[in-house]
Order: sequence, then C-alpha cells, then structure tokens
Amino acid sequence: MASHLDEQSYSLVDFFEDDDFSETETFHEYTKLTRRNVVHISRRVEEIKGDRALLAMMSRSWKTYPGSAIVEFPPFKAPSVEFAEVVFHRRSISSLGRDFADAPVDMAQLGILLRMAYGPTARMQMPGGVQHLRATTSAGALYPTELYVAAFKVDGLAAGLYHYRPIEHQLETIRLGEGERARFSALSSYEQMCRTSSAAIVMTSLLRRTLAKYQHRGYRFAMYDCGAVVQSLYLAGTAAGLDTCALGGIYDDEVSAYLETNPVDEPVQLGFLIGPRTSGPTHLVEP
Ligand SMILES: Cc1cc2nc3c(=O)[nH]c(=O)nc-3n(C[C@H](O)[C@H](O)[C@H](O)COP(=O)(O)O)c2cc1C
Repeated sequence: MASHLDEQSYSLVDFFEDDDFSETETFHEYTKLTRRNVVHISRRVEEIKGDRALLAMMSRSWKTYPGSAIVEFPPFKAPSVEFAEVVFHRRSISSLGRDFADAPVDMAQLGILLRMAYGPTARMQMPGGVQHLRATTSAGALYPTELYVAAFKVDGLAAGLYHYRPIEHQLETIRLGEGERARFSALSSYEQMCRTSSAAIVMTSLLRRTLAKYQHRGYRFAMYDCGAVVQSLYLAGTAAGLDTCALGGIYDDEVSAYLETNPVDEPVQLGFLIGPRTSGPTHLVEP
C-alpha cells in the first residue's frame, strides 16, 4: 500500500513511474510543431488562404442531415446572471456526490445551453464567402466538434436523438422514440448518473476538418477545441439553471453506433449530462 509514503513528496506520477506510456509519448511527438514540419504546414495554410474555393470549403465547417425534420428553439432570452456567479456556481454533479433529479429541463434551457456554448455570435465577410464565428473558440475557425442531443426528458421536445445545427441554432431530428435514456445509459460506465439525467450532449470530432489544414498537429487542436466546448457547456448550463456533468466514461465505439456515425472519421469525444438544478449555490467552498 502507498500509505507509508510521505504525502508531501510523492504524487501519482512518482508512485506509478514504471507505467509504460511510450505509445502516447510517440504520438505526442508527431503532433509537435518543429522547424522542419512548419514548412509543410505553412505551405498548406498558404495554399488554402490563396484559393477562394478552398477558403469557402474551409468556412463551411458543419455537418447537416439533409431532409431531416427541423426543431426550432423558443426565442433566445439571455439569462440575467453575473459571470462571477456562474463561475463560482459551476459544478459537476459527481462532485456533489449525487445523481441528477430525474425531472425535465425545458426547451428554453436547452436552447440557452447550446446557443451560449456553440451557437453563432458573428459573421465575417471573407474572400471565399461568409465565415461564421461561434460562442466557443476553435483553432483556425475550423470547428471540428459536432454536437448531438439525446433528449430523454425535455419539455417541448420529443424524446429522441438530434443533431445541433449551430449556424441556424436548430436541431435536426435523427430519430424519435422513447427508451433513448436506457439505451444511452447502457453505453456509460456511469450508468446510474445517466439514468437520472434529462438529456445528454455528445461531442464528436470531424478530425479531418482540422487535420487537412494542420496535419498531425491538428489532432491536438481538435482535442483543445473539444475541451473548450465542454467548458462552455458547463458555464452556459450553469447560467441556464441546470445541473451539469462532463462524461468521459462512455464506450466510444458503442456511442458511435448509437449516434449512427463513423467511429474513425468522426470519433466520439465526450458526453455532457444535464438536468434541472435541484439545489442552491453549488460551490463547496465560499469564493
Ligand atoms: C474531460 C472530462 C471528463 C469527465 N468525465 C467524467 C465522468 O465520466 N464521470 C464523472 O462523474 N465526472 C466526469 N468529469 C467531471 C470531473 O470529475 C470534474 O470536473 C472534477 O471532479 C472537478 O469537479 P468540478 O467540475 O465540480 O469542478 C469529467 C470532466 C472532464 C473535464
């Protein structure tokens, strides 16, 4: 046991120092910017910047489900809450040692969550067309992250699986039906937490959107982008009066099958669970 070790001088890193992470370390090497590969990457960037058609392709960075039934959100009304209050109240439900309330959230809350985390915030006229900018930053404005909504208990939205159209701030219906929550929960190592949530947002990355420009380094950028989106979801969700929790405990390929997406071109990254807020301020220590 580790209990005899001096807690001042040891960390997990020291205690498990014999673990072999050489594959991770090797892959990380490939994602570094070096004096050698900067030439190749810069050439690609210049090629894109110098061609109107390529610029237009680059700015069309969202997936669509043509012909799908569209769901509109209620008119957006910004929550009147201080930024500092949001930061200090943001919490993962697991930190509070409890599950979600197993009660509905409403469409306005879901709309605030998606709009303030990944919705449109600006349009720029570019040589190749209009470049849409969103609530969360993205390396090169390539937006490799796609958001799916598995709706379990959302007032005003039929249970089912949807894809978020960020530019129009709409949902595209992938399928409808009860039983989504049980199905989704079975794909997580945090089954009970999922079983009490009202909806799950699933983040995927269309990796080639970023790799095509930044090569292997783009892999890192896609991860950074996803991390930025999850923090935005936390903050927007807190502002919208939701309980929240990121969900890394999902079986990647099983979730891809659930989403009906390609696990290689568009790997699943993270889940994000929401439910109505059931307690007051959720910070554990006074700010
Ligand atoms: C990438 C990522 C994955 C996470 N996955 C899980 C998870 O699978 N289950 C869980 O209970 N919490 C998960 N969390 C929540 C963290 O455990 C939580 O953020 C951390 O304990 C700090 O607590 P706080 O968010 O309340 O500040 C995840 C957070 C992140 C950023």
